Amino acid sequence: MADKIRVMIVDDIAETREQLRKLLSFEPMIEVVAMVGSGEEAIEAVPKTLPDVILMDINLPGIDGIKATGKIVELMPAVQVIMLSVQGETDYMRRAMMAGARDFLTKPPGADELLDAINRAYSQRKRMVTGTLVPMMGGAQPVAPAAPTKHAKVIAVYSPKGGTGCTTLAVNLAVGLQISLGADYKIGIVDTNLQFGDAAVFMKIQPPRSLADLAPHVQDMDIEILRNILIPHASGVSLLAAPPAPEDAEVFHDGGVDDNGANNTLKSILEFVRGEFDYLILDTAHQVDEMMLAILDISDLLLVVTRPTIPEIRGARLFVGLLQRLEYPMEQVKLVINGVDNKRMGIQPEAIERAMMPALAKLPYDERTALRAANYGEPLVLKGGRTPLGMAMLNFAKSVQGLFREQEAEEPAAAAPTRRNAPKRAGLGRLL
Ligand SMILES: Nc1ncnc2c1ncn2[C@@H]1O[C@H](COP(=O)(O)OP(=O)(O)OP(=O)(O)O)[C@@H](O)[C@H]1O
Ligand SMILES: [Mg+2]
Repeated sequence: MADKIRVMIVDDIAETREQLRKLLSFEPMIEVVAMVGSGEEAIEAVPKTLPDVILMDINLPGIDGIKATGKIVELMPAVQVIMLSVQGETDYMRRAMMAGARDFLTKPPGADELLDAINRAYSQRKRMVTGTLVPMMGGAQPVAPAAPTKHAKVIAVYSPKGGTGCTTLAVNLAVGLQISLGADYKIGIVDTNLQFGDAAVFMKIQPPRSLADLAPHVQDMDIEILRNILIPHASGVSLLAAPPAPEDAEVFHDGGVDDNGANNTLKSILEFVRGEFDYLILDTAHQVDEMMLAILDISDLLLVVTRPTIPEIRGARLFVGLLQRLEYPMEQVKLVINGVDNKRMGIQPEAIERAMMPALAKLPYDERTALRAANYGEPLVLKGGRTPLGMAMLNFAKSVQGLFREQEAEEPAAAAPTRRNAPKRAGLGRLL
């Protein structure tokens, strides 16, 4: 997917769009992934088509090319916008540059200058995503370098109570990371809620294959088998779905548990799957059992989700207490408060933070938007942040990404595997 240069064309005149497409059609290294006629459509199409380079007309009806560029660069910092305009619009050009455009061409561009500009923009983008170049504009942020052999950062989303929004958060985190990091990064989501997992529903996927098809191969795991079972989502994220029926989870008990009580089969599968991705998100069930112990062992970050109600906060506190008794590294544990609404009867987020720990993210309550996303299987972040909840989900994904940047800055890459391989916790049995 990352080999060809993915180009989006934005122009309100269909003929101009077609001319640009034709100019590019002779270039095998370029793929036109979208052609749209307005700034609004461009903002919406970017997270769905993940372009590397955008050819943007400066004069568009509605949101103009400058405003659209600002919004797109905020959403996907590494995307490169080349602005096209008629001659003599120097003030526009300056404003476009402030908004995050990387280059300018006068309309109509010649084939050579267009290809040169796209190639330049693409090299610029490559340098940005490999971390050797810091983006210039305000909203833009440098992204983490890709590892030579993959060893995904594993992020589990967990709540001891059901219905708190774990699946909503896990799916939007995965798609949000894909949007923010771009198509060069491989993001996976595994639905480890083995009996009642429904992440596929939130992504409008009817899974033909699932984790249950991978379990029998645990001894002879093969990358081709895994790639066959992974299901691609339109966003670029890959899903490893939960088994189709509750009884299919049984196969995970065949391999027994390790000395610390973690399920061997799930742990081996997750270890293998992490080799295929840069980020791996785990949606989870709600018990602390042998599956969850495997998840705790493999995770680099554990997001504990609560809504602002006393029973849920109590559950989250009990769980954090258990983690402490298990001697789990608490710097890897972050609190997420979902469904904050000051007008309702909920507990104030500040009170929850005082009782537990500072929250990494506080997502607003919006039943209509959340339900619509669940029923239509359309992740909130794909709406380009057009709803406050969608925007909050995107920012949540960026906060998670930021945690790993901080961690990488603190500890040199070479030191990380030692810490990851070290035993993380005591066994549950020792507490009984
Ligand atoms: N911020 C929010 N505001 C309002 N409703 C929300 C919010 N987040 C999630 N929801 C809704 O809450 C319900 C439960 O969400 P979700 O399935 O993500 O939770 P879960 O913890 O994974 O539940 P389960 O116990 O089924 O695994 C869904 O209908 C979802 O649309
Ligand atoms: Mg769920």
